[in-house]
Amino acid sequence: MCGIVGYIGVDDSKDILLTGLEKLEYRGYDSAGIALLDENEVYVTKVKGRIAALREKVDANTAATVGIGHTRWATHGEPSEDNAHPHQSGSGRFTLVHNGVIENYSEVRDQFLADVPFKSETDTEVVVQLIEYFVAQEGDVLAGFREALTVLKGSYALALIDNQNSDQLYVAKNKSPLLIGLGEGFNVVASDAMATLKETNRYVEIEDKEVVLVRREGVEIQKLDGSVVERDAYVAEIDAADTEKGTYPHFMLKEIDEQPVVIRKIIQEYQDNEGDIKLDNDIRQAMQRADRIYIIAAGTSYHAGLVGKQFLEKLANIPVEVHIASEFSYNMPLLSENPLFVFISQSGETADSRSVLVQIKALGHPALTITNVPGSTLSREADYTLPLHAGPEIAVASTKAYTAQVAVLAILAVDSAKAKGMDLSFHPLQELGIVASAMEALTDQKEEFERIAKEFFATTRNAFYIGRGVDYYVVQEAALKLKEISYIQAEGFAGGELKHGTIALIEEGTPVIAISTQENINLSIRGNIQEVAARGANTCIVSMKGLEKDSDTFVVPAVHELLTPLVSVIPMQLLAYYAALHRDCDVDKPRNLAKSVTVE
Ligand code: F6R
Repeated sequence: MCGIVGYIGVDDSKDILLTGLEKLEYRGYDSAGIALLDENEVYVTKVKGRIAALREKVDANTAATVGIGHTRWATHGEPSEDNAHPHQSGSGRFTLVHNGVIENYSEVRDQFLADVPFKSETDTEVVVQLIEYFVAQEGDVLAGFREALTVLKGSYALALIDNQNSDQLYVAKNKSPLLIGLGEGFNVVASDAMATLKETNRYVEIEDKEVVLVRREGVEIQKLDGSVVERDAYVAEIDAADTEKGTYPHFMLKEIDEQPVVIRKIIQEYQDNEGDIKLDNDIRQAMQRADRIYIIAAGTSYHAGLVGKQFLEKLANIPVEVHIASEFSYNMPLLSENPLFVFISQSGETADSRSVLVQIKALGHPALTITNVPGSTLSREADYTLPLHAGPEIAVASTKAYTAQVAVLAILAVDSAKAKGMDLSFHPLQELGIVASAMEALTDQKEEFERIAKEFFATTRNAFYIGRGVDYYVVQEAALKLKEISYIQAEGFAGGELKHGTIALIEEGTPVIAISTQENINLSIRGNIQEVAARGANTCIVSMKGLEKDSDTFVVPAVHELLTPLVSVIPMQLLAYYAALHRDCDVDKPRNLAKSVTVE
């Protein structure tokens, strides 16, 4: 969480920083700030609130060719102007922005900074004061910066300004993402390439526990011991236009609409010239060696993992366990002899998942990451990566990444089955083509979903979603979508489980939405709907063509029974979107959330 950006060059850095921060707002948006260094004077502007408010507050007359900026998702201290970054050292010489969590900040404060007065409740202020403390001891900024880093425990991406040197930014990283963007006569620093695509598409990665001296004419990467590291730059393949909303009112709606295109892109990327599945042979072999797969993920990606389990067990006959990352870390199950860990993560930065990756690597187990960001931490640290090819997902509520994850898991399962010599009648690439057309038919019917959302969610306080089998996995995702953006308390339940307690919550008018896409459960889920209707619920059934009844609220086009989550989730995403819209919620940036959850 939190996003940082830095610039050193010849142009006025103000607008570059503010525009970069706007692109990083998905990482947190409760407060923000920038610091501009002009000659020896540092101008700090901070706000509680969004970048738009910061833009308004920044003095248009201040121009500086060096600057750093930050958008915050609070961890230590409430969202406020005092707690917003940048933070400054006692003398005002050093100014710092930080993304991450310093675990030992209170020990550091007690040990080194007992006499120093603090202006904020943040762990970051401890870092900048510690840097000043060590610079005083060492008599040199770089040596003091390095010394401070050796003391800090936790995660950080840091960009530091020294007001006595306007020719250099000091940058470092550990566990939090950070990239250096390279330009002609300028260089930039950002938590995500998206923030600086207007300036450059050439980047160099920084690894954990490295320090970078960023100057106008070049960058120097060093290890903590001072030895210099040479690393090649790469060209980011993100199209700047993909990070814009275009004519859409919200990124979420744009991303929902992009799903058919994403599925077609996945078909293209995972197909060889003969029309067969194209997959890295090392991944194929790793799948063959595994006697059990452990899927590790959080939130929406966890829900995609549940669907993936069905594919892998039903098609490839491999036992699969799906675990919530934050639980696995502290409650590791008994592992099989030859496990393969599959991390599913849109961002590739989720700290809960990364902590499991670190744990299982220490045990010597192999890991595959399925992610939308191939250069991300989870991707770099795992043995293998399968990319999602979904393009940047900017709305906080995940939509196209979920369907991309499900599609890639289906391809992986079929490939594994084939590699085992199993004869399947299921051809995922052809079937995914049918799915893409079905998705298009659904996204073309937005007015209908807007009407249904109004009918069921306009004023309700809570809502229930029910399903059985694979539909149960989809209703969990449906409930998450609804609650995160509309703030309606929603739960996704197994249809048969309601009567064991939760049915007590059903009152006159409570919305209960059922999904029915599987022949073997069609009658039983309808029975469950009858049970809640008899108790006054306002019921809605979304069924699949071929299984429908006249009274169903909506019928989705038929696709292969294994792939139904890819189409039944689209009405759920659109219902959540319109529910949030009609309740005047901030669809793309719901309260309390951030897109990239880099704290545990
Ligand atoms: C919900 C959502 C989150 C993420 C979760 C994991 O719409 O986006 O639940 O799925 O925070 O994030 P990733 O997939 O980046 O690991």
